[in-house]
Amino acid sequence: MIVAIDGPAGAGKSSVARALADELGFAFLDTGAMYRCVTLACLRSGVALDDPEKSLSVANTCHIELGVDSVKLNGEDVSQVIRQPEVSQSIKPIAAHPGIRALMVERQRRICAQGDYVTEGRDQGTVAFPMAECKIFLTASPGERARRRVEQLIRGGVQADYQTILAQQNERDANDSNRTIGPLRAAADAIFVSTDGMSEQQVLEQLLSIVQSKRGMR
Ligand code: C5P
Repeated sequence: MIVAIDGPAGAGKSSVARALADELGFAFLDTGAMYRCVTLACLRSGVALDDPEKSLSVANTCHIELGVDSVKLNGEDVSQVIRQPEVSQSIKPIAAHPGIRALMVERQRRICAQGDYVTEGRDQGTVAFPMAECKIFLTASPGERARRRVEQLIRGGVQADYQTILAQQNERDANDSNRTIGPLRAAADAIFVSTDGMSEQQVLEQLLSIVQSKRGMR
């Protein structure tokens, strides 16, 4: 079974998708990490991110391993590096590249063919797994997402300003929603879950009950 979870940045998808996979005994696929790895590989090799041929060639040759607790790029653990602002702010042309998206989607399908998966991203229910039995669009209001992000950064000892975070988040939302291929969009048959005012545990329980009801319909 594939559970496809899509939604904007900061909706809490990653942590709840991971927890859901654990509860269900499914594997977890973080597709954002794949785009982050390709971006990092381009930055490191000095390839211009907006050079379509060279960036595709980097994507074709880079070896990405998505483990339970680690992300490896050509054998090196890059779990922390790919989350750095330099990478997040450089992803746009990579995520908008049709050839790179096709390659990533093909890899995602190959990985998920191996068993039961909770997969998380922007285009999982629409493009990667249109036949998934369970599709969830996880969202929260922009203000709530930015507030959570500020809290998270401050907990990690990083100074953060709400207005700056909100502006960066709005820009990422616009980039993700406006690209032609694989934009951030809910599938027509996705179930919307708005996490405003909900704890992570409450969100997890709601997702579990959605998956269980879909399983009951099999
Ligand atoms: O989910 P995460 O924030 O790690 O994703 C990083 C970026 O990768 C997103 O902002 C988006 O541009 C891109 N992405 C994508 N398609 C996916 C997953 C992520 O374009 N399926």
